[in-house]
Formats: sequence, structure tokens, C-alpha cells
Amino acid sequence: MKKVNSLFVISVLLVLAGCGKTNDYAPAADASGEAIFGAVCTQCHTPISREVVMVLSEGVASEEGIKNKVRSGSMRMPAFPNIQGEAADRLAEYVLANSQAQ
Ligand code: HEC
Repeated sequence: MKKVNSLFVISVLLVLAGCGKTNDYAPAADASGEAIFGAVCTQCHTPISREVVMVLSEGVASEEGIKNKVRSGSMRMPAFPNIQGEAADRLAEYVLANSQAQ
């Protein structure tokens, strides 16, 4: 009983911390990077202008860095396990081309 309680507490804390969240969004096979960004990323990342949709810190300002972030998420950002392959490439290309390094 005690064990069940502490497991419950731990999972509530993880949910509150936003840790380990995933987002099931799956883009259409031919979705452009811009379409994917507009469909899910803008829920949290409000574009600054048409040309600058994100400000990227140095360590993330590459296609690989962006794809890693999308694949793994973080404490506050969900992981997107269904954005893969060419869709992930197109998304990373779009974000990088329309971003500003911090
Ligand atoms: C539920 C909110 C949420 C959604 C949806 C979301 N993000 Fe994030 N994202 C965050 C938060 C909060 C941060 C800042 C904290 C961090 O870096 O972990 C972040 C950070 C990032 C970073 C790192 C920026 C930097 O310079 O360190 C990238 C790149 C990024 N997001 C890309 C994306 C992309 C692409 C999508 C769409 C597939 C997306 N995010 C969807 C919340 C979100």
C-alpha cells in the first residue's frame, strides 16, 4: 500500500514538472516545415516576426540541435516522437532558416 502511494506521488510530481511528457502530433507525409511549426510549435513558441519564428541559443542553432530538441523534449517542452525522417528535416530547416541566434 505504501509503495503504491509513493509511486502515485512520484507520477503526480513528474506530471506537474512536465517531465517525460510527449506530444502525439504526427504531421502529414508532405507537410512543410512551416505547416508543422504552425500546427504545433506555435502553441508555445510565438513567432517574433514572419522571418524570425524562434530565437535559438548557440547550442541548439543547427538542424541537428533542433531535431534533438524535438525528439527528446525537455523539462518544459514535450518530446515529439512522431515527427521523424523528412518531416523532421523540413521542420528543422524551416526553424533554422527563420531564426535568430541568441
Ligand atoms: C508545450 C509547449 C511547447 C511546445 C508545443 C513546443 N515547445 Fe519548444 N520549447 C518549449 C519551452 C518551454 C522551451 C524552453 C525550455 C527548454 O529549452 O527546454 C522550448 C525550447 C525549444 C528549443 C530550444 C531553444 C533554445 O535556444 O534553447 C527549440 C529548438 C524548440 N523548443 C523547438 C520546438 C519545435 C520545433 C516545436 C514544434 C515541434 C516546439 N518546440 C514545440 C515549449 C514548447
